[in-house]
Amino acid sequence: MGTLDGQTAIVTGAAQGLGKAFAECISAEGAKVYICDIKAEVNDVAEGIRDNGGQAEAFVADVSNRSDVENFVAAAAKDGIDILVNNAGKWKHTPVTSDWEQTLADYDEIINTNFKGVMYMSRAAIPHLIQSDKGNIVHISTYYVLPPKSNGTNPPLTDLYSASKWGLNGFTAAWSKTLEPHNVRVNALCMGATDTPMLRGLYEGDPPADAVDSWMTPEQIAGLLIDLVNEGPDGRTGENIGAWVGVPVELPPEQEPHHKITGIPVE
Ligand SMILES: NC(=O)c1ccc[n+]([C@@H]2O[C@H](COP(=O)([O-])OP(=O)(O)OC[C@H]3O[C@@H](n4cnc5c(N)ncnc54)[C@H](O)[C@@H]3O)[C@@H](O)[C@H]2O)c1
Repeated sequence: MGTLDGQTAIVTGAAQGLGKAFAECISAEGAKVYICDIKAEVNDVAEGIRDNGGQAEAFVADVSNRSDVENFVAAAAKDGIDILVNNAGKWKHTPVTSDWEQTLADYDEIINTNFKGVMYMSRAAIPHLIQSDKGNIVHISTYYVLPPKSNGTNPPLTDLYSASKWGLNGFTAAWSKTLEPHNVRVNALCMGATDTPMLRGLYEGDPPADAVDSWMTPEQIAGLLIDLVNEGPDGRTGENIGAWVGVPVELPPEQEPHHKITGIPVE
C-alpha cells in the first residue's frame, strides 16, 4: 500500500536528475506516472520503474511545443490526472552584454521551456486536475526566488533563468487562488544545490568533493514533494517552499496567509 495508490501523476523532464527521482518516488508510493523529456533516455526511466513493479509510460515530448504537450497530456488524461510536476528546466549563463542575436536565442531557449512550458502543461492539465478533486500542481523552482536567502547568492549572470522562475511565482499565486475551490493545490519547491547532471554540468571536469558532499540529493527533494502532496486537499496552497544545503530537508510549517488586498474584485 502506497500513499498515492490509484493516483496518476505527470512529471516533465524525467530522463535524469530531479525529474527521474520525482517519477521513481511517486511510483514507489503507488501512483501511475506519465513522464516526458526531450531526451529518449526517458524511456529507460519508465522501463526501470516498470521493472520495479510500478506503472509508467514515457513520451519523448518538448514542453515548449504545444502539440507535444497536448498529445502527452491527452494520453495521461485517459487515467485522470491528480498530480502535475512541472520540473523540466534549463539553466545557462546569459550575460547582459550579449549581442541581440544571442540574447533573443537565449530568451527563447530559457523562457519557452521554464515559463511557457509550465503554462502549456498546466493549462492542458488543469481541466483534469479539477475533475480529480484532490489535484496538485508542483512547480520546480529555485531558491533564487526567495529574496531573504538569495541575497548575495543569486548568480548575476543568469537573468533569464531567474526571471523564468520568478515568473512561476505569478502562476503559483494566481492558480492557487483560482483553483482552491476545486481542491487543486499549487505550490513550488525552491531548492538550493541538488546533485543532478545540471549542477554537475556547471563545472569543467568533476566538481570538488567537498561541494558535492554539501549538496542535497534528488531523492531528498522527492521526499519533500511526496510529503507536500500527502498533505491532501486541506493542505497548503500558494507557497514557495525552500530547501537549502546544511539544514534538514523537510516541509516547514504552513505559512500564515497574507492580508487580503482590498479594492480588487476576487471573482
Ligand atoms: N539541480 C539543482 O541544483 C537545481 C536547483 C534549483 C532548481 N532546479 C530546477 O530543477 C529542475 C530539474 O533540474 P535538474 O537539476 O534535474 O536538471 P537536469 O538538466 O539534470 O534535468 C532536466 C531535464 O529536463 C529536460 N528538459 C529540458 N528542457 C526540456 C523541454 N523543453 N521539454 C522536456 N524536457 C526538457 C532535460 O532533457 C533533462 O532531462 C529544473 O527546473 C531546475 O531549474 C535545480
